Amino acid sequence: MRIAVGNDHAGHPLRSAVLEVIESLHHEVIDFGSSEPDRCDYPDYAQQVAVAVRDGRADLGVLMCGTGIGMAIAANKVSGVNAALCHDTYSARLARSHNAATIITMGGRVIGPEVAKEVLAVFLQTQLSPEPRHRQRRAKVDALAALSSPGPGGEGDEEQLQLRSSERETNQ
Ligand code: RB5
Repeated sequence: MRIAVGNDHAGHPLRSAVLEVIESLHHEVIDFGSSEPDRCDYPDYAQQVAVAVRDGRADLGVLMCGTGIGMAIAANKVSGVNAALCHDTYSARLARSHNAATIITMGGRVIGPEVAKEVLAVFLQTQLSPEPRHRQRRAKVDALAALSSPGPGGEGDEEQLQLRSSERETNQ
């Protein structure tokens, strides 16, 4: 797989551990991250990684900042990607298998490089669950994107969303 990687200064302490795991699993790195520990803005890196995943230039993404929270919030603004904050292996496994996360975010001020390596390895090695209940829930989550542009009768209209949701259930 091709894995897009990005980090700011606060995610920098996890950077070499993340690159090591990706390479040891024989994946290709697309590196957008800051290789210097100088102060910089996490949304710039979230944007590059999320757009690469959205456009299919990368299969999955890894983003690191201080907490992982800013990167997750920023990446999730790009429609077509699912970014999940994971600091433990259980969350990493379910983020991939149940939630179809395509980007993992981690905080360099929250976990250390050794934990980050284990968490990332699980994320990269877990497949999406094909179970219908998870597929149906993911479809409901995807339908919520329609609410991002509110307006009567428009894309974000709640009645329209309800209608689309019931159409989808009938079609399954
Ligand atoms: C940088 O100080 C810090 O705010 C940033 O790395 C990140 O944690 C934001 O969510």
